[in-house]
Amino acid sequence: MTVNKVGVVGCGLMGSGIAQVCAEAGYPVVVREVSDDLLKKGLGRIESFLKKGALKGKVTAERMREVLGRLQGTTSLADLAGCDIVIEAVVESIATKRETYELLDRICGKDAIFASNTSSLSITEMAATTTRPDRFVGLHFFNPVPLMKLVEVVRGPLTSDGAFEKAFAFAKSLGKIPIRAKDKTGFIVNRLLVPYLLDAVRALEEGVGSVPDIDEGMRLGCGYPMGPFTLLDFVGLDTTFYIANIMFDEFREKRFAPPPLLKRMVQAGMHGKKSGKGFYDYAKEPPAPTPGLV
Ligand code: CAA
Repeated sequence: MTVNKVGVVGCGLMGSGIAQVCAEAGYPVVVREVSDDLLKKGLGRIESFLKKGALKGKVTAERMREVLGRLQGTTSLADLAGCDIVIEAVVESIATKRETYELLDRICGKDAIFASNTSSLSITEMAATTTRPDRFVGLHFFNPVPLMKLVEVVRGPLTSDGAFEKAFAFAKSLGKIPIRAKDKTGFIVNRLLVPYLLDAVRALEEGVGSVPDIDEGMRLGCGYPMGPFTLLDFVGLDTTFYIANIMFDEFREKRFAPPPLLKRMVQAGMHGKKSGKGFYDYAKEPPAPTPGLV
């Protein structure tokens, strides 16, 4: 497949990262947000990442201009009409995603491939809302998208071999390392990661160790770049809680059940780094363990 233009729907944390890596790989990108404010914020996130990269000596001012020049922001889905592949990274709500795909299906050319960045919803359910279920895949990127090498390329029973291989080759063309996964809730990474993160919360509830000790244990004992609580704060407690619930609904297995402490923290608005507080308090420099959690 020759990809002449990429569409990205959603310019939040994931969408902006995806738009950025596509533009960095040389593709003209149309990225759509629902409002001018959100679009400005998303494009601003890309610019600020590139500026930090320039300060680190990773990107030149000219390259930065080039990458930004390949990005066209819009609030209208109709502007994605000429895209050969559309990557959707809107909020993890099946209703919103289905609505988005119904519109995109009418707007985009019949050969265009649709790819969802969902981490936990069914590719098959989304594909079935379109007239192109054979040209529908999952392209699951990881946060922070510009730095994380992995993309899970996901196929459902309706995905054609041709579309799957095209999506796989496209992920490679972004400089990423794609892996193949089936449309089973959580795919490969979250299937293993989510029970691990939930177990860390259970270990804390049971008093096995403190937040920093459990984090240091996994960082230094297993060579993980972040301990489980730092990672929970980074991914978002609300996001993890949401994914865990979807996985629990699907498999009915205890290991996917969110522990009460996680639920209480989400109810309390302690969503991690983005809300300023989670297992650590980010108002402190360096962030300090939040007291009184257990
Ligand atoms: N521009 C260009 N390069 C940059 C950059 C920028 N703005 N910012 C950082 N970099 C480069 C750095 O220069 C460095 O490069 P070198 O290795 O060549 O020196 C590299 O990126 C790493 O950056 P840092 O040294 O600043 O940061 P770090 O080493 O602490 O790594 C991290 C940061 C990559 C986030 C690392 O901590 C990590 O891998 N954490 C785990 C993240 C993770 O697990 N994510 C997945 C979450 S799950 C998910 O997303 C899926 C889901 O469905 C929930």
